[in-house]
Amino acid sequence: MNSMASLPLSAVSGHRNLTFPCLLLLLLPATLLLPPLTFASPCRTSCGNIPIKYPFGVDDGCGAPQFRRMFNCSTDLFFLTPSGTYKVQSIDYDKQSMVIYDPAMSTCSILQPHHDFVMTDIQSIIMPPTPDTVFALLNCSIDSPILNHYKYLCFNFSGHSCDELYGACNAFRVFHLLTNSSPPCCFTGYDTVKFMSMNILDCSHYTTVLNSENLKGVGALDWDYGMKLSFSVPDLGCDRCSKSGGTCGFDTETEGLSCLCSISSNHTRDCVGGNITSGGPHEASSVFILIFLLGIIQLILSYY
Ligand SMILES: *[C@@H]1O[C@H](CO)[C@@H](O)[C@H](O)[C@H]1NC(C)=O
Ligand SMILES: *[C@@H]1O[C@H](CO)[C@@H](O)[C@H](O)[C@H]1NC(C)=O
Ligand SMILES: *[C@@H]1O[C@H](CO)[C@@H](O)[C@H](O)[C@H]1NC(C)=O
Ligand SMILES: *[C@@H]1O[C@H](CO)[C@@H](O)[C@H](O)[C@H]1NC(C)=O
Ligand SMILES: *[C@@H]1O[C@H](CO)[C@@H](O)[C@H](O)[C@H]1NC(C)=O
Repeated sequence: MNSMASLPLSAVSGHRNLTFPCLLLLLLPATLLLPPLTFASPCRTSCGNIPIKYPFGVDDGCGAPQFRRMFNCSTDLFFLTPSGTYKVQSIDYDKQSMVIYDPAMSTCSILQPHHDFVMTDIQSIIMPPTPDTVFALLNCSIDSPILNHYKYLCFNFSGHSCDELYGACNAFRVFHLLTNSSPPCCFTGYDTVKFMSMNILDCSHYTTVLNSENLKGVGALDWDYGMKLSFSVPDLGCDRCSKSGGTCGFDTETEGLSCLCSISSNHTRDCVGGNITSGGPHEASSVFILIFLLGIIQLILSYY
């Protein structure tokens, strides 16, 4: 929007002193016309400091329908799962990954009440935690399936041991103290907690560690706690829509793809074909030309 207003401005910048009052006049039509344009897309493009792009949306009907009702934008962006509300720390659209943080999770510095991590079936298919997100199951009972039948699900996490966590982390020292020995723990992947709840696993707490492939020799105090999810982008023909200046969304009743061109017109595939009379990019460029022409006229008038 700013670039529209700045072009007539730069055209007269050589005569700044002479034409200052005229500049205000120049900007007047722009300020009158801008507000409706600013709200041309029904989809918010950011939430807090997180950019929102396809396939995500925080307004219903925006983004891909597969991700519908998974996000909540109340000052910050939250990812909603059956086990709770996780704060979205960052989204990398090129690498198709999202880092989330569970404020109720135990970490090296804080012990919080036991809870599970549960995703819906759809979520665990279209945005599962990445393989480099390690789940550390702590204070497990000796009867835990992962110490017996499912022992193979625990792996050697760059040589780190349970004792190391219980020793290095204030939050986990309590497991050590109560029993005067180290209760077992297990480093594992998302699939383990997907198929077995914490009750079945018989471990009282868990924590999750990000970017785990580079943590050899790095102490638990310096790990990044959180979860990285890798999302897949459904190919519903969004490229064609965004190239035509539209925003990809869906019909809230049928969940069929809808290319959102402006508040007053939705097109099925793109914004150029079909009804262009009320289309977004065309409307925007005609307003641009109008402002530009008004600017030229006022500039000419100011010399008389
Ligand atoms: C266009 O789609 C959006 C999102 O689905 C919806 O809110 C809006 O009412 C639609 N507009 C028209 C004119 O159908
Ligand atoms: C969105 O998040 C806010 C704050 O966490 C919460 O109060 C609200 O109920 C949430 N909305 C939904 C639909 O989950
Ligand atoms: C550790 O697990 C045992 C059960 O195996 C439980 O009784 C105890 O409360 C747990 N410790 C903490 C600090 O939660
Ligand atoms: C775990 O891996 C490290 C190397 O990363 C190795 O030194 C250590 O012996 C392994 N521990 C077990 C119990 O296999
Ligand atoms: C254009 O819009 C009118 C009414 O809004 C609709 O009846 C007509 O089918 C549309 N044409 C195309 C090609 O989308």
